[in-house]
Order: sequence, then C-alpha cells, then structure tokens
Amino acid sequence: MKKIFLSFGIMALLALQAQAQFTVPALTYPVAALEPHIDKQTMEIHHDKHHAAYVEKLNKEVTANALLKDKSIEEIVTHVSKYNKAVRDNAGGHYNHSLFWTVLGPEGHTLSGPLLEDINTTFGSFDQFKNAFADSAKTRFGSGWAWLIVEGGKLKITTTPNQDNPLMDVVKVKGTPILALDVWEHAYYLKYQNKRPDYISAFWNVINWNEVNRRYNDAKKKK
Ligand SMILES: [Fe+2]
Repeated sequence: MKKIFLSFGIMALLALQAQAQFTVPALTYPVAALEPHIDKQTMEIHHDKHHAAYVEKLNKEVTANALLKDKSIEEIVTHVSKYNKAVRDNAGGHYNHSLFWTVLGPEGHTLSGPLLEDINTTFGSFDQFKNAFADSAKTRFGSGWAWLIVEGGKLKITTTPNQDNPLMDVVKVKGTPILALDVWEHAYYLKYQNKRPDYISAFWNVINWNEVNRRYNDAKKKK
C-alpha cells in the first residue's frame, strides 16, 4: 500500500514539474568545471538551491496571477512594473541566473573580433574595460549584479541592485545584457568570504566569450 502512495506521490510531483511554466536550465558544463575559480559546492548550492528557489516562487506567482500565464521571462521582466515585488525579485532572479550560467565556462576561452574591437574603442583597452567593470562590481552596495550591455548600438557598463536587470522598465540604465556578474554573497562567500574583489578577479578566467560574443551580435542586430 505504501508503495502505491509513494508512486502516486512521485507521479504527482512529476506532473507538477511538467506543468511548471519556468524551470531551472541545466548547466552546459560539469558543476566542478569552473574550479578553482568558482568552486563546485558554490555552484551546486547557487544553481540547485538559490536559482531553484527563484523559479519555484515565480511559478507560485504565475498560478496566482493570470497575466503571467504563458508569458516568456523576457516579456515579464521587460514590463515588470505591471507586477508585484515578488514577481520583480523572482522573475529577475530567474532571468539573471539563466543568463549568468551561459556566460560562464571552463578556462580557455579568448575574445577576438568585433566585440574586442568595440571594447577597445569604447573603453580605451581591454584592461581598462576590465578595471571599469570590476570597479562597478566592487562598488555595487549590498546584493546585485554588474552588467555589460548594448544600448543604442553602444557598449555600456552598469549595475543593478537585488535581482533587477537592464531589461526592466523600472531601472534607470536600460539595454540588452551580454555579460553578467552576480555579486550577491551567495555567489562567492563559501570560497572567498568577504573578499568580493578576489571573486571578481577570478571571474575573468571563466567567461565563455563565445556566448558573450553571440549575445553581442544579436543585440547589435536589434538596434
Ligand atoms: Fe545568485
């Protein structure tokens, strides 16, 4: 009898997951692939617990608000002022983390071509860009994100608090994000404790520049 109830329980859980509007995307690399720069345990907790919690809460909002039904995450964040704070936080959390996992990758990626040329022209040099981005990430007070965006065809660095992002209609500096860095403590505390600058330095080793480049090309086409 117990087995039957257990089977029903599992089936109900699977059915619930199948119905969920939003799900946590799987990582495209092993969870330890970013070691030693971003450790396996941080990645596991960050992806499997923190991101999953944003998705779970966002799905709860979807069941409570018919306006969210069948909307893409981009549609929701772009018009986030229409919704409550829980939607802003959790839709932002889902969009931001989904993007973040894709712009990370094992060591070894290099940047070349039009994006590198644009970075050099816009910021003076790649090192000057790195310094400006790192300074923004370091000085983002409390929890938030640092971004490289394309706005009106031009590259810009910006930051947002909490789970806001540059697509949202509620933020001052808007644009299409092509690179993101999570500076919430949950992204680095296990390995780096209070040393956010060390985490930011390590980040440069694990950027998937192919993906950033792809996002850059798409964003440039949109202008
Ligand atoms: Fe995070």
